[in-house]
Amino acid sequence: MKHKEILELLNKMTIEEKIGQMVQITGDVFLSEDTNSVLTGPLKNLHLSKEKIYHVGSVLNIIGAEKVKKVQDEYLSKSRLKIPLLFMDDIINGYKIAFPIPIAQGCSWNTKAIKEMTEISSMESSIAGANVNFSPMVDLSRDARWGRVMESIGGEDPLLGEIYARTMVKAYQGKNLFEVGKMASCVKHIAAYGAVEAGRDYNTVDMSEREFRQYYLPAYKAAIEAGAEMLMTSFNILNGIPSTVNKWLIQEVIRKELGFKGIVISDYGAVEETITHGYSANETEAAKNAITAGIDIDMMSGIYANHLKDLCLQNQEIENKVNESVLRILTLKNKLGLFENPYGNTNEEKEKTYIMNPINLEKAKKLTQETFVLLKNKNHVLPLQKSKKIALIGPYIDNIGITGSWSMFSDRTKNGTILDIFKEKMGNQVIYAKGCEILRQEEINKILSADGSPIVHVENERQKEQDMIASAMQTAKKADVILLALGEHYKQSGEACSRSNIALPENQIQLINELYTLSKPMILILFNGRPIELNTIEPKLDAILEVWFPGTTGAKAITEMILGEENPSGKLTMSFPQNVGQCPVYYNHYNTGRPHHDNLRYLSRYQDIPTESFYPFGYGLSYCDFKYTELYLNNHKMNKNETITVTIKIENQSDYAGYEVIQLYIQDLYGSVVRPVKELKAFKKEYFKPHEIKYIHFNIDMHMLKFWNEKLELVAESGEFKAFVGGDSVNVLEDRFEFVDN
Ligand code: NOJ
Repeated sequence: MKHKEILELLNKMTIEEKIGQMVQITGDVFLSEDTNSVLTGPLKNLHLSKEKIYHVGSVLNIIGAEKVKKVQDEYLSKSRLKIPLLFMDDIINGYKIAFPIPIAQGCSWNTKAIKEMTEISSMESSIAGANVNFSPMVDLSRDARWGRVMESIGGEDPLLGEIYARTMVKAYQGKNLFEVGKMASCVKHIAAYGAVEAGRDYNTVDMSEREFRQYYLPAYKAAIEAGAEMLMTSFNILNGIPSTVNKWLIQEVIRKELGFKGIVISDYGAVEETITHGYSANETEAAKNAITAGIDIDMMSGIYANHLKDLCLQNQEIENKVNESVLRILTLKNKLGLFENPYGNTNEEKEKTYIMNPINLEKAKKLTQETFVLLKNKNHVLPLQKSKKIALIGPYIDNIGITGSWSMFSDRTKNGTILDIFKEKMGNQVIYAKGCEILRQEEINKILSADGSPIVHVENERQKEQDMIASAMQTAKKADVILLALGEHYKQSGEACSRSNIALPENQIQLINELYTLSKPMILILFNGRPIELNTIEPKLDAILEVWFPGTTGAKAITEMILGEENPSGKLTMSFPQNVGQCPVYYNHYNTGRPHHDNLRYLSRYQDIPTESFYPFGYGLSYCDFKYTELYLNNHKMNKNETITVTIKIENQSDYAGYEVIQLYIQDLYGSVVRPVKELKAFKKEYFKPHEIKYIHFNIDMHMLKFWNEKLELVAESGEFKAFVGGDSVNVLEDRFEFVDN
């Protein structure tokens, strides 16, 4: 449709039809034989009439070509102007193929891998009818207590967030949204949701504008520059005003300053929540606040559906705003080609052949392997020799539930288990005992009862626990090495999964303690959605392989890695704390006036734990041994038109081939506002043959030295800097250079 025709369509619309476009509901109502019971049941709180639902512009989390077509047909059959619905979904880490959760994907430090995962996920879900994906989530995350760190693609680093945001938006959207396999990307959650106080979900955020611009804004900005069609606001208050109704954020920063032209959608029920926050006095005011701030679509609160019309009748400015919003929504529908074909890229035939196809599953496995982070490998206990007798122990050994909390659409039939795959490869050389449950039932009850699930009572749970441990001990005694698969329950990380204790569940720790008494090599495969507190168990383990929630091909990917058919190359994107009391802990912090180096009294330190993180940002081992030497700067002074080339010699001192992520950090030693002790400025993921030596180069230019000063200007100041290169943010070689701003 031409722009002129869209404007004509807009002119034909009644105010009710326009407002309808700005309302999003779950689509079940169009699938039900009995609409009334859905409206008075699941959608009761929205107080919608039957008439109003046939005006809504979009639906949430309806997917599958047949279902999507059915909903679209049903809707259009009753719609006067036949404006197709938009289908928006949460395809967070894949549709039918579940890829590793986003935090894991980020640990690949490989934009090509992230691009490929995003493209497969975009193809699978768009042919199944999704027009918009609520992804990527690019909230900078420094606090492991927050359950949603599992969704954060860049972890604690603004540069990674920026690079990955750009990569994913482009991979979803391609050049044209109506190309097969493409869909609109809805980037979330603006803004600074990752900084919720105490890591408690939905909580408050208060930060200086400088801090916001320096660390939190860059990823959203990169997504906008990459052409993201949509943004979702966050649940939190930002500096006293809920993001959903924060005019400064949406109007000044997002629209005016960053030039965002697309659609802004609220998060689920968030327009109404501005009342609970104590910002809007009632529903009418909530509608007014949201529309004035710039919310184009109200997701699941009914506030727009029930209150916008009166506001429009009273106030021309609000009606103008409604027209602007509707124009944006119609424009996106047009870009998706929905006026020509209301099913968009939905394709039932392709759905049958493409989804879960073996080529993509094989690719997925390779990509998954890039996300694993080897945290410890004492005496090179890994990879394991096939000649060894291995005791496979733990609740994740024979478990297909390794796809994480946002994989509700994934096809679990192909998941396989670690047990199956080890057996296939090693037959009777492997023996198995479950050893423990993931969580005690009382803890599961606590989590699941909040979802309305019935409480389950387990008789003699402690006794059963002891029996399981005893049986695991018997199994382990017969083996040369113990391979443990433990970790969080998938319901322990994700939305509304904040935790004040981020250690492994107590029953799992007990199992480790008992097995440790056997003095056999013990390897942990760790399943989790957040950095885990490992300080008490780490000394008992010879190796730790962090696999996060690895998805459909996880079991195969893990087995190959453990047996040395593949080599780990992932690096952490979030620091692991010594214990939860250290949260938030992140590498790019400022120095205090009393940094802790020695065991002296009045220093910035904890009395009971080290100041440093347990595993630092950027950290991850390989079966190779990489040695970094000969850091060389071709110049020690540069001006704004010059660059300095940093060169480092890296030697793979092993018989393995593998990848290494080489990282360049910079510190601005003295600034008009203080600068962090280190900031990631560039990285390269390089392949090394056995014993290969490579010289890796990075160029430093003025843009890498810029920061937001006191006057909120982005500047590079003359002065002294340090450049660091290493395989993580701590073990680095360093040199100094000077920048002169002329
Ligand atoms: C709430 C979550 O915060 C958001 O990330 C998600 O996309 C929406 N619900 C829709 O499911």
